Order: sequence, then structure tokens, then C-alpha cells
Amino acid sequence: MSTIIAPHGGTLVNQINEGADTSALTTKIELDAMALSDLELIGNGAYSPLTGFLNQEDYHSVVENMRLKDGTPWSIPITLPVNKEKANELQPGQKAALVQNGTTYGTITISEVYSSDKEKEAENVYLTKESAHPGVNKLYGRPDYYVAGEIELTKRAEKEHDEKFYLDPAQSRDLFKDLGWSKVVGFQTRNPVHRAHEYIQKASLETVDGLFLNPLVGETKSDDIPSDVRMKSYQVLLENYYPANRVVLAVFSAAMRYAGPREAIFHSLVRKNFGCSHFIVGRDHAGVGDYYGTYDAQKIFSHFTEDELGITPMFFEHSFYCQACEAMASHKTCPHDAKHHVILSGTKVRELLRNGEKPPKTFSRPEVVETLIEGLRDKQTTDS
Ligand code: ADX
Repeated sequence: MSTIIAPHGGTLVNQINEGADTSALTTKIELDAMALSDLELIGNGAYSPLTGFLNQEDYHSVVENMRLKDGTPWSIPITLPVNKEKANELQPGQKAALVQNGTTYGTITISEVYSSDKEKEAENVYLTKESAHPGVNKLYGRPDYYVAGEIELTKRAEKEHDEKFYLDPAQSRDLFKDLGWSKVVGFQTRNPVHRAHEYIQKASLETVDGLFLNPLVGETKSDDIPSDVRMKSYQVLLENYYPANRVVLAVFSAAMRYAGPREAIFHSLVRKNFGCSHFIVGRDHAGVGDYYGTYDAQKIFSHFTEDELGITPMFFEHSFYCQACEAMASHKTCPHDAKHHVILSGTKVRELLRNGEKPPKTFSRPEVVETLIEGLRDKQTTDS
């Protein structure tokens, strides 16, 4: 009998009311891409225990202490920004339609409208106030007032990938149960799966029942590899190198925050809601540039007790292929000099792929490389 981990906060939130008639709602709030994906992830329980966008008390508590007001760990503020004009128009108690380009995706019963504290939010969540940081830049570019309140998800956003890769937490939990899995390791990625990723996934898989490969496909910075190209590369990798009965591939539709350590906590809590008992945190998880130390996203877990988080993080050292070992390794397992190690930066790999050049087999599987080069080439042709 498989037992699936309890959701964060104890109950899986379900605020889905698809097809509800929203035509009578005259007050409308426009959603950006991040808010649209957040709406869906609140609605389907991926962000349990959140039932709506954060109120002022919870917002400040999350920004200051990485916890909701009631003490539950939560590290990233999930907010609904509006401009001053709109903020003046909205009243507590009102129900508003949540729209994007004329389509209604949900409703919010407004409990509060309040001013954001962007500087504090940037400093505490992203650990920098520099707008060169893509997450901070996004934060500064959003309007200054936040609307709080319970939401209902009335319509799903258009799916950009094959339907079969979309699982609500309730569905992934059922699937893991059907597969007889209790111990499931979640893997977050915004990149193609290279040999290092494969190595830490398979090392984890040795001790658990299954792998939940859960690539983020929401908004990312423009030079990250587009999610449709990545999705093809994941499938080709799984077909060739993974046992089919040990892996579930499903998309994670959130926007990337690039908040490093804070986002590692957030990513793990969300994967717990999807039914993962374990979560991989490797080197510079959700990091960007030099903003975070290589292992800061692991160290941050010490702020919480095991019970509070529920999900067990699996930490990995920076791994690489070692030509002297003739194997994947890390500094923990390899005695050889750095000159034997095949290490390429993400930027370098993206540059190679965009130029149609192949990173070595020791860095990435040839089938993956082919798919990526082809996908990026097709994109350039369509874009030009
Ligand atoms: S992320 O922004 O989604 O975290 P990425 O897709 O590169 O970026 O990483 C996915 C996961 O793999 C993260 O947990 C990250 O820490 C880990 N990781 C990436 N590359 C390595 C590596 N060479 N060695 C160990 N862990 C790695």
C-alpha cells in the first residue's frame, strides 16, 4: 500500500470552479503572466495552504520571516499587483473578475488592497535590490498595490504543451498511488536535463520509488531555453535512458523567480503538494548570475524543522563528468584535478546550442543535444 505525503498545511486546497458564470462581474483586474499562472496554482492546490493572493499581514510575515502569519513556512510572496488608479477603485467585499486580454480566468473576493514594499521584498526575498537581477526587475516592473482575497479558478489558461503533461496535485497524488509509490523525489528544472542533472536524479532514484520530473514552463528570462524545446528534449532523454515505470514527467506552470535559496524552499513545498516526499536541491538552485553562493539554497533549509517542511530535501554537490574517473562525480567522490572535469556554464551551453554546436557527450546526451539544436533552429526560422 502506498502512502502519499500530506499536503502543506494538512489539506489540499481546491478552489476550482470551472465554467462558473462570471458575466455579471463588472469589476475586472488584469493579470500578468505571473499572476495568471499563480491563480491556477492556487486554485488547483499546488500552493496549499494558500486559498488566495496574500493579505498584508501574511505578505509582511513571508517577506520578513519566510512564514505565513500563522507560522506555516512560506518563502515567496504570492501577490496580485494593481496600479494606483485600480487600487482606488477596488473595495473590500467586492468580487472581481480576474482577466487577461478580455478572457476571465477566475474571480477574487477582495479582502484588502494594500501598498507593496518593493525594496524590502527585493532585499529579503531576492537578497538584492539591483534591477539587473531578473526577479527584482520583474518585481519592480509590476504595479505597486497588492490585492488580497480568496480566488476561484473558473477557466484554465491555454495549454502550451501536450495535455498529458498537465497534472493537478490531486491527479499526481492519485497517479503515484496507482504506481504504488510512497517515496517520490521531485526535480525542478528550467534547463534541459544534462548529464549532471541525470546523475543526481538517478542517484536519488536509487533510494526512492519514483522520480517526478517537473520542469518549470511558466515565464522565464528571455535567454533561457524555451519550454517547448525543453519538453521535447526531456521526452527523448526519458525514452532512451530512464525506465518508463519509474518516472512521471509533468509541467510546473509557475513563473521563475530566480530567488535562489528562498525559491528552493518554495519549490520544495509546492512539490510536496504534488505528492513528493523528497526534493532535489543541487548547486545554486534557482540561482542567476553570482547573486547566491553555490550552496545557499541548501543552507536555508536549516531555518526550518523537518516536521515543519514535511518534505525531505536531497542535497547534491556540484557534479560533473570526470575524465580520469570515467564517470559522473562530485568533489565528494572524485580525487582528480579540475582539469579532468567537464564543466560548462549554462550560458556557454546555450551559446553552443544556438550556434548549432554540440556540447560533448560527457556533458549532455547526444539525443538531447540533437533535439535542442533542432528545436532552437526551428525557432530562429519561425522568428525571423
Ligand atoms: S533551476 O533554476 O531550475 O534550479 P537548473 O535547471 O539548472 O536550474 O537546476 C535544476 C536542479 O539541478 C537544481 O536543484 C540545481 O541545483 C541542480 N543542478 C544543476 N546543475 C547541477 C550540477 N552540475 N551539479 C549538481 N546539481 C546541479
